[in-house]
Amino acid sequence: MLIWAPSVEFAVDEVGRIYGDVGLGRFQLNLAHPVERGDYLSVVDELHGSVLCQLDDLHRTSDLDVDRADELGHGAPTLVHERLVGLARVIGYRDDQGLVKVPTIPFRPGAQVFRAEEGLIAGVLGLGHHSAVGAYVGLLRGHALRVELDINQLVQRHVSVLAKTGGGKSYLLGVLIEELLRHKVTCVIIDPHGEYGSLREAAPKNGVHAKFKVEVQGFGNRIQEYSPDATLNPKAKPLTFSLKNLDPRELLIFMGLTNVKSFLAPLKTILEEASGRSPEYSIKDLVDLASRHEEPAYQLLHERLEYVEQTRLLAPHGTKLEELVRKGDVTLINLRGVAPDVQELVVARISGTIFDNRKKGKIPPLFLVIEEAHNFAPQQGSAASSRVLKNIAAEGRKFGLGLCIVTQRAARIDKSVLSQCNTQLILQVTNPLDLKAIAQSIEGLTEGMTEMIQSLPVGVALVTGGGYHTPLFCEVRPRATRHGGESIRVVEN
Ligand SMILES: Nc1ncnc2c1ncn2[C@@H]1O[C@H](COP(=O)(O)OP(=O)(O)OP(=O)(O)O)[C@@H](O)[C@H]1O
Ligand SMILES: [Mg+2]
Repeated sequence: MLIWAPSVEFAVDEVGRIYGDVGLGRFQLNLAHPVERGDYLSVVDELHGSVLCQLDDLHRTSDLDVDRADELGHGAPTLVHERLVGLARVIGYRDDQGLVKVPTIPFRPGAQVFRAEEGLIAGVLGLGHHSAVGAYVGLLRGHALRVELDINQLVQRHVSVLAKTGGGKSYLLGVLIEELLRHKVTCVIIDPHGEYGSLREAAPKNGVHAKFKVEVQGFGNRIQEYSPDATLNPKAKPLTFSLKNLDPRELLIFMGLTNVKSFLAPLKTILEEASGRSPEYSIKDLVDLASRHEEPAYQLLHERLEYVEQTRLLAPHGTKLEELVRKGDVTLINLRGVAPDVQELVVARISGTIFDNRKKGKIPPLFLVIEEAHNFAPQQGSAASSRVLKNIAAEGRKFGLGLCIVTQRAARIDKSVLSQCNTQLILQVTNPLDLKAIAQSIEGLTEGMTEMIQSLPVGVALVTGGGYHTPLFCEVRPRATRHGGESIRVVEN
């Protein structure tokens, strides 16, 4: 039996007491002082001292039944007994070796629950300090503790940025890229909307920058930009691929023909005929030669070669990979105005070439970002880029090739790609299918957290992985550079 001395009253920072059956990882508490869902709490454990906990859920219980509620509605006074109770999750304490442990004996019913002190939160979560390998993405929600993601983990173990449209994905990705630029990590960004050129320019300074201790800064000449449509995107250099450097299989992928077996032999015949004519053959020669054959496979090849010719993506001397990937800098592949099927081909080709050359160690370790990734590795059907992105997700980390996928439809992206991402940055998501896909692909996400994701304000992200052993809510720091994806105002004030 347990007898608590009646003189023990609420301490100043006490929020309530544990009651009912107490589990190892969870407990219920009555709440005598207001706390919010997600707040950090502490309970003193006899053996290990203060243990960090988090309020996962809270609700009000009352003795008001439906009949009395009805009476109340008719103006009859009624006495209601109500109580605020919560459900808390045990995060743990740091042991002598610095490891986070959860007590192996449950807390006692009646034990005091306090608001956790900043030192305990920082210590157990591993927050607040500057690290040489840290990407500063924001502050722990409601606290002044820095959230820094381990850059080695980001690049080695892949990242996903998930939120509904307008949820702040591109803004947060911009923050991450600024950090990678500061740490001189080589990045290639597939930029379907041409949003990231603004990384060159410093953001207009405001009060929020001071709160988060962020200096505004533009990255000017450390950002290079390429586009298959350099007319529409004048800041970009033209992105082209060399016909000579493509082997027949690659050319087929480029043509959007995934059924390699049936087209490989006829394409090889055309290529042999072309090199017989001249070693400097062009795509026009291939179109011409394909039209001279009558079999159906050649007719389809003819059609697809004509299409590739129109895209003007193939030039005598294509863009060299050494130009495209510049050590320590960011390369934007601006696909604004480019047809969706051509976008897929470009992503397939660039990702494939980067992966092959990374395997051979010919280019530095790098971070490959795919915006609107559900279009390039869809769960249903297939895109020209699906296979290579799945391979990079599965094997890239062995070769120092980190993948970052950004999507507004977690349910529509290939599950094997999503589940390979060990760091997730999740902003507001409301679609039930997307929430289900997120819950299935992330370990350690509680029901309470999944509910909280639905009502996150713009600028707050749930961070899982990235060197932290427990998911945490982070107020995203302001951009040092200008955000290029501002929502467009339709009506001015
Ligand atoms: N942390 C933040 N602080 C301040 N403003 C933000 C923040 N995050 C996003 N915003 C603003 O919210 C709007 C939408 O953000 P953003 O462009 O990043 O959304 P998105 O998720 O990429 O949308 P889409 O799916 O349409 O690409 C922008 O106007 C942006 O300036
Ligand atoms: Mg966006």
